[in-house]
Amino acid sequence: MGVKRVIVFDTTLRDGEQTPGVNFDINDKFKIAKQLVSLGVDVIEAGFPAASNGDFEAVKNIADKLKGVTIAAMARSVKEDIDRACSALKNAEKSRLHVFIATSDIHLKYKLKMSREEMLEKAVEMVKYAKGKFDEIEFSAEDASRTDWDFLVKVFSEVIDAGANVINVPDTVGYAMPREFGELIKYIRNNVPNIDGVMISAHCHNDLGMAVANSLSAIENGATQVEVTVNGIGERAGNAAMEEVVMALNTRKDYFGLVHGINTKEIYNTSKLVSELTGIKLQPNKAIVGANAFRHQAGIHQHGVINNRATYEIMKPEDIGIVPDTFALGKLSGRNAFELKVRQLGFNNLSPGELSDAFRRFKDLADRKKVVIDEDIRFVVEETLEEFRSFKEGEAWA
Ligand code: KIV
Ligand code: ZN
Repeated sequence: MGVKRVIVFDTTLRDGEQTPGVNFDINDKFKIAKQLVSLGVDVIEAGFPAASNGDFEAVKNIADKLKGVTIAAMARSVKEDIDRACSALKNAEKSRLHVFIATSDIHLKYKLKMSREEMLEKAVEMVKYAKGKFDEIEFSAEDASRTDWDFLVKVFSEVIDAGANVINVPDTVGYAMPREFGELIKYIRNNVPNIDGVMISAHCHNDLGMAVANSLSAIENGATQVEVTVNGIGERAGNAAMEEVVMALNTRKDYFGLVHGINTKEIYNTSKLVSELTGIKLQPNKAIVGANAFRHQAGIHQHGVINNRATYEIMKPEDIGIVPDTFALGKLSGRNAFELKVRQLGFNNLSPGELSDAFRRFKDLADRKKVVIDEDIRFVVEETLEEFRSFKEGEAWA
């Protein structure tokens, strides 16, 4: 048997868009989706077509144009949502419906106002309804981690009989602990009688800061798909961060013994693009992609790194696509050099106006500062983007 491959399902464009204050338009979604293809994700969850006409068009645009990747669309367990997802994915090379319904007693009682039996009947009916309309059907049991385990097993077994190819286990409210979540995955794997040939997926939220740990624990216990977002954006405290899960699998290949399809050298660019289009700056100490992730401050550390990087570095910045400083900029540098540096820093989508403005700010700074480092350039560009964004928002309100 060969080395097992983890399927990376990216939901930046769906759960990531549920980040408070984030709203992607059709162009933003396409730019990110294109970059996700370069990154090498297996599945792009492009959106929720029934949510709005705008999202329908954005999902359709991605499904029409991007090939070589599975495109997923979300739907509640209602026919209208499934039909909308179906039309949006009509031209996808490989389509996946992501249909969900809540299974925990607390959601059944207070949100759906349904009994367990009514919910199960609805889930099975909707999976049967969707069968044949998509290449794959993923069924999510929302709030799975707070659902009675034996009932969850029953739900999964019945939706598999109805035609689901992927069963997703969401820790919707980020409540689970890593060992417990791993045990739940193992329980499902060992007790769902028709699980063979069906993919088990983990979808973890970060309310207690466990999303990545829970995802990795799920993988260790038999999940073959992991659902992630770039920079960990998402509802409330966000989702499992793609870059953290992937680099854990990479850096600790000795421990996990798994492979994936991600080209890690595209991680930094992808992170920058998402940060740029969401307007969400990363905390400096953010693992993998934060500004300080590869910086050494203490003298003892710097000394060690000079002698041998492996003393304090478990990953190389180049592994995630950070280009080492090739040239320094100063007040005599021209626009071309500035533009090249800006692109090297991962800002690939500046408009000509934004670029001119950033260049002017850089020149002002270079007049005042002897050495302009990458961090200064990053700051200047982010400041420009922020100003342009608030100007646009101001216009929208006017
Ligand atoms: O967190 C969640 O439960 C989800 C879906 C998979 C329904 O985002
Ligand atoms: Zn979620």
